[in-house]
This record gives sequence, structure tokens and C-alpha cells, in this order.
Amino acid sequence: MLLQGTAALSDAADSHRALPAFSAYNLEMVQAIVAASERTGLPVIINAGASAFRHGGRTELARLTLDAAVSSDTPVGVHLDHSRSLEEIFACLELGYTSVMFDGSDLAFADNVRTTRHVVNRAHQMNAWVEAELVGVTGDEDVSTNAVSNAMTDPALAEEFVAATGVDALSVAIGNVHGFSSTPAVIDLDRLDAIGRRVNVPLVLHGASGLPDEVVLACLDRRVAKVNVNTELRRAYLEAVEEDLSRALETSDLVAVLGAAREAVNEVATRILLMLARAE
Ligand code: 13P
Repeated sequence: MLLQGTAALSDAADSHRALPAFSAYNLEMVQAIVAASERTGLPVIINAGASAFRHGGRTELARLTLDAAVSSDTPVGVHLDHSRSLEEIFACLELGYTSVMFDGSDLAFADNVRTTRHVVNRAHQMNAWVEAELVGVTGDEDVSTNAVSNAMTDPALAEEFVAATGVDALSVAIGNVHGFSSTPAVIDLDRLDAIGRRVNVPLVLHGASGLPDEVVLACLDRRVAKVNVNTELRRAYLEAVEEDLSRALETSDLVAVLGAAREAVNEVATRILLMLARAE
């Protein structure tokens, strides 16, 4: 079934837990994530696009993800991650996405406020919720680039931004980066504490791949209720392909490789679901 509304996020924030938002690029990843949700009985969010649309196509990836979410035994949200395009955001809302992220982090504060507010108004009319970003999380969403964090969310500005936009969730920049990095990310928990005290909506941690569990759990104690994970799933997929490739080549068995990749993604997603639910 579709995970609608923000109650699951607010409940998670209140109980120091979080929902994972896993990025999916293709059928196998979508199936692996839904199966992990059903296996654990825990709700999950699938990030279907924006960057993955370049690979799978917008309508194609959106439809397969929405179909899988609707058919799931457990609540599955379908989310548009990091979109800067109003056309894309509104198209995904029309398709039935349960939430969208407008990423206005490269805009001036006033423009970010104005556009985020516009997205919020439209999304709320369509029964969807909105995540926004004030300061960009560095790094690439699709490949690891050894990113180093270079700017952080200001707690006072975050409070002003959330009040002015009516946004439902806020992505924070607190030392987190997208992708694996050879220099370990240093998360500024004091800053997160200050943001959590001033901002009355659930917070979102991007770039969770590679962070130690105890650091992620410390963020959950400070109102982070949605944790975005991509690289760890990509890595699991690729390692499974590598492991099975030579055997599969002997008989040109594509299905064996795709199945192994799906199984590997399922294992990682299951582990993270349980960790974020503090059920391990
Ligand atoms: P990672 O690839 O570091 O897990 O980040 C994912 C993310 O934040 C997607 O928005």
C-alpha cells in the first residue's frame, strides 16, 4: 500500500527512529526494497528519481515504483529526491508520488523560500508532502566522488525557512556528504541539536552511506526521521554482479546476475531498516 502523509515521519521523530529512503534505479532495486519492507514489516520510502530518471526514464521508473508500492503488503512511500525542476515535481505529483523534494539550495534564500512555498501549496492540494533543502549536501548522487562537506545549515535560518515555507521536512547539512569518502564525514551533532530545537518538522539526513551506525542513531536522537541511503545499495548490487559474473557468462545467464544483485540489495536494505527502527 502507499505510505501517505507525514504521520509515519512524525511518529518516527517522536520515538527516535527513522524511515529509510532508499534510491532505486531499476526494477530489481525497487523489488529488493519492497521485499525488505515486507520482510521486516516496516514502512519504507523509495527515492525514484530525479537523477535516476536519466537512466530509467521518468514515466517508466515512476510507474514501476508506484505499482510495486501499491501492491506491497507494507506501507511504501514514493519520493522524488533532489529535484530543481517544477515541471518534473508537478509531473511526479500528477503520477501519484507521495512526496517530493524541492532542492533550492543553489538559490538565494528569498527565492528558495518563494519556490518551496509554491511547491508546498501545490503538493498539499495533491495529498503529498514536501522536503526542502537550505544548504546543499556536497557530493554526487550517483557516484562517489570523495566529497568533503563545505557548508552547514544555520539553525536560526532553518527556523525562519521552515516557518516561511510550511515545508513538511527539512534536509540538513551537518557535515554529511553524498557517497563514500576516503575522509570520514564528521557529523556536527551540536548543530543538529540546535536545528532540532528550533525547527518543528522532522529532519532528513542525506548521505548516510558510510556513516557508522552509532552516528546515524545519534542523529535519530535529534529529530532526524528520514535517512537517505543510495551508495550502500549500489555497492551491494555491483559486488553481487562482480561475484556472479564469470559463472553467469559461461551460460549467458543474465537472470542469475540480476537475481543475485536483487538479493544483495535486499540484504543491505533489510539491515538498515532494522537499524533505523532500533529493532536489531
Ligand atoms: P548516499 O549515496 O551517501 O547514501 O546518499 C544518498 C542520498 O542522500 C540521496 O539523496
